[in-house]
Amino acid sequence: MTEAQKTDKPALAPTPVRVLPHPDMCPDGLAFEGRTGQKLVDALLKQGIAIEHACEKVCACATCHVHIREGLDAIEPADDDEEDQLDDAWGLDAQSRLSCCVKLNGAPLVVELPRYTKNHAREG
Ligand code: FES
Repeated sequence: MTEAQKTDKPALAPTPVRVLPHPDMCPDGLAFEGRTGQKLVDALLKQGIAIEHACEKVCACATCHVHIREGLDAIEPADDDEEDQLDDAWGLDAQSRLSCCVKLNGAPLVVELPRYTKNHAREG
């Protein structure tokens, strides 16, 4: 692909993301527009939310666990690897996902950060 073709590509509409308040990581909550196609974990980090990502975002640690409170049906479902890792996540529920496995696809998401991560739960 030439440089000209690359720049001719239409930009995808951004993905609206709302993060519910979390006492440590995001006390006031946050709403932003993420880049469609980006991993949710990268979008959160870019906004200054210090979500853990111990395995460097390759679906091997479960520290990037989040709850997708709205928009879950609009994103790709978890694959077997993600489901296996999620079994180790703190506070697992039916809306749990690993944020390194969720790609923003234009559908609005509401995200809740778990009170603890796998690592914190071990320390406590
Ligand atoms: S960063 Fe390790 S599973 Fe997402």
